Amino acid sequence: MEQKISAQEQPEREPLVSSTRGGNQQPHPSAGEEWRKEFPYPWNEDEVVTRRDTLHFLLAGSGALFLATGVLTIIGHLPSGEQVNAVPIARVGELAENAWKVFEFPDQYAQGILINLPGKGLVAYSDVCTHLSCAVTYQQESRQLHCPCHEGYFDAATGEVLAGPPTRPLPLIHIAVQDGIIYAVKQVPR
Ligand code: FES
Repeated sequence: MEQKISAQEQPEREPLVSSTRGGNQQPHPSAGEEWRKEFPYPWNEDEVVTRRDTLHFLLAGSGALFLATGVLTIIGHLPSGEQVNAVPIARVGELAENAWKVFEFPDQYAQGILINLPGKGLVAYSDVCTHLSCAVTYQQESRQLHCPCHEGYFDAATGEVLAGPPTRPLPLIHIAVQDGIIYAVKQVPR
């Protein structure tokens, strides 16, 4: 028979996990307090997270992500310091719109691909496919990077996978411009 608990008898705060599917267990009057002893969290000092707080958090997070994405595509100034391995890869104006070229970076054993992407400008990625390391090439019509080994496709604007077996985007290569020369300065695995 169903047993009802009056409002006065109910614990002040429901335990986080209190239901048992299909069972007929009744909550022990002190069950709501037992778990608090095991997890001594200072509830009185905790601030209540409102829906507005959550919304602000989500908006701030989206803004930060947007800015981070923008920063990734910005052509920076050539950084200085002994640790910097800046490799000249092209002259400014060398690539017509939608043209591309392959360059060696960070040494002769690895290559990157530089594209003058319509509407976006210069972007650079490692040309090593993230599936099984074949070299990708740029397809000017579709504006995608294509891996011929297993028909992998990447978005040239972001390096993200569009189709095929790869699961990770192409590593980004940061570029910088100084005195009319475009340099590759850093590869960022993703
Ligand atoms: S190596 Fe590029 S899709 Fe397999």
